[in-house]
Amino acid sequence: LTETYVLSNGVEIPKIGFGTWQVPDGKIAYESVSMALKNGYRHIDTAEAYKNEKSVGHAIKDSKIPREEIFVTSKLHSHIKTYEGAKEAFQKTLEELEFDYLDLFLIHAPWPWNEMGKDCREGNVEAFKAMIELYKAGKIKAIGVSNFSPADIDNIIEHLNFVPHVNQIAFFVGHNQSETDVYCKDKNILIEAYSPLAIGHALKNPVVIKMAKAYDKTPAQILIRYCIEKGTLPLPKSTHESRIIENGQVDFEIKKSDLDILDQIDDDPRKWN
Ligand code: A2P
Repeated sequence: LTETYVLSNGVEIPKIGFGTWQVPDGKIAYESVSMALKNGYRHIDTAEAYKNEKSVGHAIKDSKIPREEIFVTSKLHSHIKTYEGAKEAFQKTLEELEFDYLDLFLIHAPWPWNEMGKDCREGNVEAFKAMIELYKAGKIKAIGVSNFSPADIDNIIEHLNFVPHVNQIAFFVGHNQSETDVYCKDKNILIEAYSPLAIGHALKNPVVIKMAKAYDKTPAQILIRYCIEKGTLPLPKSTHESRIIENGQVDFEIKKSDLDILDQIDDDPRKWN
């Protein structure tokens, strides 16, 4: 929890973040984030779309940990694809969190969630242009994207001559997005892995269960460690304190031969029922 990656602009980012997707606003989000901070997490990932920024902000404030010791990410809602819209939404995010700056701000998706696949190339450029200005003004320490394909990122680089610092994608054992992974590593874009446990699905994988026994770890710890071994930044989430603690205790190594076994697992979420 104390180790960090260094982004391409030199900003340090704790190697494990606490995810808050599907953590309901109010008591549950407040308590989960408070437990994460109490147990050593210093990186919290939220989004406007999660509707829990207010509780996340309160938990951070009430923790009494200095703001600059906690790395906080939020995201521009996927339907906002204009320059002005991005600026306004960023301001609203700051107000919800009650912060005067943000560590990382991401475009949540290349298209609105309800219009997946829509061509928003121009809108993404407009939104990212606003984010570059906010970054240069010191309001955000790093900026990036989420759920972007290599072509989506190329579009940003071509039009704005700026390489995003981060791409946050679904990444887990069975779904390691090798094409995007290779592309991002080549461009020095850090991959953040959301749903590192495959929303719980990968915990049931017999290969993972067997490996966990051999390492005297839990399946969750194998899955989270896998992300780190692959050079990505896992964002596990839980609303239970014992699991929050467990998910942060991944200071061990997975052997290359075992990583190869995990790499071979194919568990594409589109095939789940
Ligand atoms: P809960 O919040 O009830 O603990 P992901 O991070 O991939 O989205 O997965 C989150 C899901 O996995 C949640 O349903 C969470 O449930 C569950 N989960 C999180 N950590 C653990 C753990 N260590 N062991 C078992 N289940 C976990």
